[in-house]
Amino acid sequence: MKHFLDIHKTEQSDLRTMIDQAIAMKDARNGRPKGTPDDETPLAGRMVALIFEKPSTRTRVSFDVGVRQMGGQTMILSGKEMQLGHGESIADTARVLSRFVDLIMLRTFEEATLLEMAEHATVPVINGLTDASHPCQIMADIVTYEEHRGPIAGHKFVWSGDGNNVCSSWLHAAGQFGFDLTFTGPETLDPDPRAVAFARERGSKVEIVRDPFEAAKGADAIVTDTWVSMHDPESARERRHNQLRPYQVNAEMMAKAKPDSLFMHCLPAHRNEEATNEVMDGPHSVIFDESENRLHAQKAILRYCLGV
Ligand code: CP
Ligand code: NVA
Repeated sequence: MKHFLDIHKTEQSDLRTMIDQAIAMKDARNGRPKGTPDDETPLAGRMVALIFEKPSTRTRVSFDVGVRQMGGQTMILSGKEMQLGHGESIADTARVLSRFVDLIMLRTFEEATLLEMAEHATVPVINGLTDASHPCQIMADIVTYEEHRGPIAGHKFVWSGDGNNVCSSWLHAAGQFGFDLTFTGPETLDPDPRAVAFARERGSKVEIVRDPFEAAKGADAIVTDTWVSMHDPESARERRHNQLRPYQVNAEMMAKAKPDSLFMHCLPAHRNEEATNEVMDGPHSVIFDESENRLHAQKAILRYCLGV
């Protein structure tokens, strides 16, 4: 049984297989109506639980559609409406769900909750985002980069803004897929030092550059995310906005990157905050491909976890 908990916890060769399989599955569906099943339905007879303790549009819809395209069935559960949200332990929830379903996808707050679910479940568990990481998103982003620009290894990515959960998964991916990452943002919002150390140990060049325009020089891709994440307290909103405003991705910043650089954002975005409309809707932007590729990447992740 294989969980998919984080990019740095997954074998490099398995990650590569998943990316290649995602692209192959996407190609195989080319032109096919969205609601039709794939030619192969490896999840036939399988039931997948999708548990959300935080809001979601992309993760929810892409997992639901992906499971159905592969012939399986889903149930979408809100943490608040489960006993989980009313005092039942994670461990007991994991044991009970494992009697009914073949796989659990969990979006939650603390990483410890995900790890406890994985420890006590007897079925695979997929990380659908925690306060600490968002591996499914970055798998989709690798697919996106490679379908536009070819192999990702050796390229320079620039993360501008908050060193948050999505940034950590980018750092894990830098280490596993062999690309470099420059972080630019205020010191108080630096990325998780463990994620930085992981990428560096694996041979990636990870730089922290406070000047966003200096950081952007020569980038193959500039990536950002919301200034206030779902787990951040509302009281931090104003301070974060003030600190992060200089790191907005705008035309001036994109002009420092390579002429064929990509602009990436996992969405949802706060338009004209972390990135301008001009950049989000401009020629460098691949943001909606990133969203679509959640579907294809997660289908490969589901197959990896279920061994099908
Ligand atoms: N990018 C992402 O995970 O989006 P949702 O919060 O809509 O699932
Ligand atoms: N950093 C964001 C990502 C949302 C997909 C959050 O955690 O809210």
